[in-house]
Amino acid sequence: MKVLVVGGGGREHALAWKLAKSPLLGKLFIAPGNPGTAELGTNVPIEATNTRDLVDFALSNDVDVTVVGPEQPLELGIVDVFKDRGLQCFGPTKDAARVETSKVWCKELMSRLGVPSAAFKVFSDPSEAAAYVRKSDVPLVIKADGLAAGKGVVVARTGKEAAKAVDDIMVARTLGQAGTKVVVEEFLEGEEVSVLAICWGKSYCLLPSSQDHKQVFDGDEGPNTGGMGAYAPVPRFDTALEDQVRDRVIEPLLWGLERQGTPYSGVLYCGLMLTSAGPKVLEINARFGDPEAQVILPLLDVDLLELAIAAIKGDPAGFPASPRGSAACVVLASGGYPGSYKKGLTIEGLDDARSIAGVEVFHAGTAVKEKRLVTNGGRVVGVTAWAPDLKAAVDTAYKAVSRVNFEGMHYRKDIAHKALSMKR
Ligand code: AMP
Ligand code: GLY
Repeated sequence: MKVLVVGGGGREHALAWKLAKSPLLGKLFIAPGNPGTAELGTNVPIEATNTRDLVDFALSNDVDVTVVGPEQPLELGIVDVFKDRGLQCFGPTKDAARVETSKVWCKELMSRLGVPSAAFKVFSDPSEAAAYVRKSDVPLVIKADGLAAGKGVVVARTGKEAAKAVDDIMVARTLGQAGTKVVVEEFLEGEEVSVLAICWGKSYCLLPSSQDHKQVFDGDEGPNTGGMGAYAPVPRFDTALEDQVRDRVIEPLLWGLERQGTPYSGVLYCGLMLTSAGPKVLEINARFGDPEAQVILPLLDVDLLELAIAAIKGDPAGFPASPRGSAACVVLASGGYPGSYKKGLTIEGLDDARSIAGVEVFHAGTAVKEKRLVTNGGRVVGVTAWAPDLKAAVDTAYKAVSRVNFEGMHYRKDIAHKALSMKR
């Protein structure tokens, strides 16, 4: 079979890596891909948002199955475009992807369906939003309605920060159109966990739970990033919690989406806060998480290509997805990230890191310049290790990290520490 992966980050490298293991795979294309995916298949120089050229490429190259990594092409309706042309594409339609592409739409849907999430109010008028945040207690969470590449959520600890967030998003329009409306939300306390399911209509199979580390510094300090590392599965997320999430979140959402004429296909990502009153939804995404994919995929004892096809055709429920062991991913970031950073710095030691058993280095922001591998983004690579238990996975990941170097490189030293100290 010929398979096309859409996207070019760490998540897409992990998807390509897992798909490349499938006995069903003949040829693998990645658009646009990165130097890591170039080792697994053919990179195609088409941007992930160029749905027209992507569908033309798939038709002229007899691509059998397309797997979409990022959210932007889903918002542009890539799945609808491919389906209209008779092609198989793994992911939700434009309408169903609104669970991620409009926070207002998703909050209203969850509220209708009784899915537990933070109490909220929606505003399209900046002065009404400003008046509301002035009279509310802090902390308070302000979210731009639309896609904002991870920059659309402000957890305001003071009234001043809340007012500034409303002003930035709705008046200064720092996030453009995404800030036409905002959701102002109750602050939830607890531990975060990501629970992903591969779905078709009302059927789904659950993937291992995982936890991202969003803040840039150890101890969850500093500004939010795209994700500085992750591990899976989350020991605290036991079968009782899993049952609650199935019953209260995933099933109501899938049934509700089907009932309202927007059946869901693809990956449903539930970002949850484990509060003292039970799990509550922080966000729903319409795709694999990044870097969650980098720790979930190595643990899956299934053929991802077979699973994707089964989901497109309509029955992934028969696939057991019990994880094998644990995995940890440490993201190595450019000096200055998530602020401004230099590009083009030589990366050393990746092959040395990869020579350790149970380690893979997923590329995110890399490029090849004059035959040298160089940095080309904020998050440069995700060093991932898997092992029978979480401690061994974390230790192996850091051992591999110690072999990699580039100028200004920084990373979190405490990936999975909360989970490891809980177990002791
Ligand atoms: P989101 O993109 O909606 O997941 O938000 C990004 C991050 O902001 C989440 O991973 C949480 O750490 C935090 N966050 C979002 N909503 C809330 C909330 N209601 N209460 C506390 N933290 C939140
Ligand atoms: N890791 C969070 C996300 O992919 O949205």
